Amino acid sequence: MDHPTFPPGFLWGVSTSAFQIEGATAEGGRGPSIWDTFTATEGKIARGEDAKVAADHYHRYSEDIALMAELGVGAYRMSIAWPRIQPDGAGKPNAEGLAFYDKLIDEVCAAGIAPAITLYHWDTPQAIEDAGGWRSRDTAFRFADYATIVGEHFADRAKLWIPLNEPMVMSIYGYGIGEYAPGEFLLLDALPTAHHQNLAHGLAVQALRAAGATGIGTANNHSPIWPDHDTPADRAAADWLDALINRTFADPMLLGSYPEQVHPHLPEKFADDLATIAQPLDFYGVNYYEPQGVTAPGEGNPLPFELRPVEGYPMTTNDSPIVPQALRDLLVSFHERYREHLPPIQITENGCSFADEPAADGSVPDPERIEFLASHLRALREAMDAGVDVRGYFVWSLLDNFEWSKGYAPRFGLVHVDYETQRRTPKDSFAWYRKLVRHE
Ligand code: NOJ
Repeated sequence: MDHPTFPPGFLWGVSTSAFQIEGATAEGGRGPSIWDTFTATEGKIARGEDAKVAADHYHRYSEDIALMAELGVGAYRMSIAWPRIQPDGAGKPNAEGLAFYDKLIDEVCAAGIAPAITLYHWDTPQAIEDAGGWRSRDTAFRFADYATIVGEHFADRAKLWIPLNEPMVMSIYGYGIGEYAPGEFLLLDALPTAHHQNLAHGLAVQALRAAGATGIGTANNHSPIWPDHDTPADRAAADWLDALINRTFADPMLLGSYPEQVHPHLPEKFADDLATIAQPLDFYGVNYYEPQGVTAPGEGNPLPFELRPVEGYPMTTNDSPIVPQALRDLLVSFHERYREHLPPIQITENGCSFADEPAADGSVPDPERIEFLASHLRALREAMDAGVDVRGYFVWSLLDNFEWSKGYAPRFGLVHVDYETQRRTPKDSFAWYRKLVRHE
């Protein structure tokens, strides 16, 4: 499959997150997180699956780093589990937790791969949740303490830093509709959790800089919003949803303001925090998967919009319509909206899940993933040709892993994981990405 060329120095990477691959949830002094609690709650995860073992990366990280070295990527985006560093969410760091990430990160560096560290990929320490979680403003300050610990410890080795992964998903799926941990159903009353995460982002950027870290950005997910019909009612609904999922995080971080629609739902004194939130960033990380359809709300809907599936496109096994062109459109509209306020972009996640299984000869053919990646890279190149400054691209994901409430069924990896044996098998897309990354 053909792919376009990218400028010299363009950063190629792969992404993972701690809870989705590590397992060993009760080892190394790790405290419980909201995802341990959520996965232990009946009915929350498909087939009752949990992440106690996941891809057993906690014990097999050397094998996984060797795979990345073979792949030839320049960077590895990984997350540090807050409950490994502060098992009950506060106070002195757990030495065993730091030691685990020391070994892992040193090995990543020794393989010639630059670590891109996410501080928080949704695994809030349970003790923090018990004290209010992201509903509480205090959590932002607890997060800043954690950022100081991790920043001071790893600033010498990380190339890129991401304070929070996809805070929108935490607010909407975690607190708004309860599909993800902590499982709250607050609808628009979940918006204070967005503000507290934004504040946590700003405070963590300050803490990381004070610790000597450089290369600080975000990993916010964005979806172009497509109104069902070109009617005023559908356009208004689309504008609301766009404000909620695309602008409630990017606007305060980049412009120091919130979209008007969300003002009435934010904590009373939100404006006082805007200067803290709008810290200068070294890059803006975009996670892109799909566009989102929307229509005007029906009778009795408490929300000002109603989601609609986008139809007429091939789908992944994670129910995502495959629309590469939307990545180009998203980046170009971002560039136009934020102009001089927009730092260089990294695509911190892009990828897809299919029902990949080993063939009789032991290979794992995944032609749909190759087509997905190639078409999205063409769209990305088009955005760059249209003037968008994109510096890197990270595939989600290195390995098949625990896809949150959908469990292990959606397989996102370039590497297949047999969860019975923990055997890793590079898929055909791994060889394809290897060639691209190594310019072969
Ligand atoms: C975004 C999230 O950051 C990641 O955890 C998840 O697995 C992928 N999307 C795929 O859904």
